[in-house]
Amino acid sequence: MKESVKILKGHILFTKSLDTFTIIENGYIVVDGPHVAYVGESLPIEYTDYPIKDYGNKLIIPGFVDTHVHGPQYCNRGLGMDMELLPWLETYTFPEEDKFKEEGYAKKVYTAFIDDLKRNGTTRAVIYGTIHLTGTVELMKAVADAGISAYVGKVNMNQNAPDYLREEDSQSIADTIESIKKSTDFAPYVRPIVTPRFAPSCTYKLMKELSEIAKAHDLPVQSHLSENRGEIDWVKSLFPGSKDYTSVYVDHNLIGQQPTIMAHCIHLSDDEIEILAKTHTMVAHCPYSNNNLSSGIAPIRKLLDAGVPVALGSDISGGHLTSMARVLTEAIGLSKMKWAEVDGERKPITLSEAFYMATRGGGSFFGNVGSFEEGFEFDALVIDDASIFDMNVRSPLERLERWLYIGDDRQIVDRYCRGALLCS
Ligand code: GUN
Ligand code: FE
Repeated sequence: MKESVKILKGHILFTKSLDTFTIIENGYIVVDGPHVAYVGESLPIEYTDYPIKDYGNKLIIPGFVDTHVHGPQYCNRGLGMDMELLPWLETYTFPEEDKFKEEGYAKKVYTAFIDDLKRNGTTRAVIYGTIHLTGTVELMKAVADAGISAYVGKVNMNQNAPDYLREEDSQSIADTIESIKKSTDFAPYVRPIVTPRFAPSCTYKLMKELSEIAKAHDLPVQSHLSENRGEIDWVKSLFPGSKDYTSVYVDHNLIGQQPTIMAHCIHLSDDEIEILAKTHTMVAHCPYSNNNLSSGIAPIRKLLDAGVPVALGSDISGGHLTSMARVLTEAIGLSKMKWAEVDGERKPITLSEAFYMATRGGGSFFGNVGSFEEGFEFDALVIDDASIFDMNVRSPLERLERWLYIGDDRQIVDRYCRGALLCS
C-alpha cells in the first residue's frame, strides 16, 4: 500500500466545463499525494485494501478560488459602502493600508484574514498585500501557516497616492524583487505575482519596469481594469498616448506578455474585450464590490461569449464577504438584473457557470486546479448540510445549490488543499 494514497467516498460534484455539473452519487475519489488519481462510481481493484474515509451522505466539492482580494482591507469590510471607488480609496482604503508598515499590525490582520478565507472554503486565492515589503511577507507567512495556496503580490504605487503610500521608483522595484525572493521561503503554498495597483497609481516607467520583472522572473501580473466611469475618464487624461484603458496595460506589456488577471472589467468596448480574449487575460468578476461601490454590472455573458476566461473575486473590502459561495450566487443575481433591466438578449449566468468560475475557472490560473478530473490537484470541501431544515428529500445538486445560497462555514466539515487535510 502506498502511504501517499487517500480514498474518500461521498456525493461528488464538480464542473469540468461551464455548462454542466458532473455528479457522482456515493462515488470515490482516490488522491495520490497532491493529485486526483481516480474519480468514479466504483473503486478500482488495486485500491480495495486501502482504508476509505467514508463521508456518507455528505457532499464533496472542489475548494473555492478567490481570484481578487485585498488582505490589508480586511478590517474595512462593510465600511464606506455609500461611496464610489475614488473617494472610497482616499477615505477608507489608503489610511488603512498605511497601517501595514507595522509588522505587528500586519501579522494580526493577515492571520485573521487568512483564517476567514480558509474557514469559508477558499483554498486558493490571488491576494494583494500593500506597498510594504515586511507586511507582505507576513501575508505570505499567514498563507503558508494555514496550508492554503495563494499568489501574493506586493503592491506598487508611485503616483496619485497619498505621500504615506507613494513609493520611490527604485524602492518600489527593489522591494518587488525582494518580495519575489522571499516568497520562495513559503513555497509551495505561496507564489509571487507582480501587482501594479492600477494604471493611475503607476507611471509609464514603473509599469515598464514591472513588466520587465514579470518577464525576467516568469511571473503573472494582476491589476484593476475599467471599474468605475470616473476612473476611466481619469485614466484617459493620465495616459493620452494609449487608445483606451486596456491599451494602457497592453502598451506596457502588462497584458499579453504573461498570464494576467484584471479585476472588474465592467465598462469595456468591444475592441477591449477582443484584446482580453486574444491575450487570454482572466477577468476577476467581483459582484459584491461592483454593487457596493456603484461601479456597474460587468458584462459576464458577453465576456464568456467572446472567449474571455472569467473567474470570481470577493474583492475584500470593496466586497464585504469572504464567502465564495455568496460571491457566486451574487454573480448569478447580478447577471439576472442585467438581463431583466439592461440587456434582455444576453441570458443570465447559470449555477454551473458560476460554480465553474469559482472553482475550475479561477483554478486554471494555478494550473490544474478546481476540479476532480484525474491529474488535478486535490482541493476539496466536505459539506454536511444535515442541519439545514427541510421536510423533503433532495438530490445532491439541489442540496449543493441550497447550501451555496443559504449555507455557511458551519456546514463545511473538512477542507483539503493540494491533497492535504487542513486543520481547522
Ligand atoms: N482600484 C485600485 N485600487 C483598488 C482597490 O483597492 N479596490 C478596488 N475595488 N478597486 C481598486
Ligand atoms: Fe480590488
